[in-house]
Amino acid sequence: MSARPTLLQLLDAARAARLRAHAPFSRFLVGAALEMADGTIVTGCNVESASYGLTMCAERVAVFRAVAEGRARMVRVAIVADTTTPTPPCGACRQVLWEFGGDMEVILGDLQGERGRYQLKDLLPLAFDARFLTG
Ligand code: THU
Repeated sequence: MSARPTLLQLLDAARAARLRAHAPFSRFLVGAALEMADGTIVTGCNVESASYGLTMCAERVAVFRAVAEGRARMVRVAIVADTTTPTPPCGACRQVLWEFGGDMEVILGDLQGERGRYQLKDLLPLAFDARFLTG
């Protein structure tokens, strides 16, 4: 059990992950860093495909990587892109983040630092999740 990462550490991790983005088509580099319930950080970057449609966003890469590593409890996410208006997660990523992190905190940042903080329930109201499948 490690201590909780600071906001700065989480943003730094997202910034570093962004530099590993594979985005030759859009040239839009995104990094995401998940704070796990045990205090560790799992990162992701966007990975684009020549088919375009198979591209995966940084946020979902991070979530799927955490799940594959057997660490599926996440409590916070930082997302970094180099834009003047901070880059929010797309609808698909909001859904996946919700299913694995519930109403987690979503921190948006740019190369300088934090640019906004949101709760996921406000970004994805009336969310569908596994609870509906059981009636
Ligand atoms: N992208 C992300 O990785 N996360 C976001 O929150 C928004 C968009 C990626 C997908 C694609 O590789 C590029 O940014 C342009 O849409």
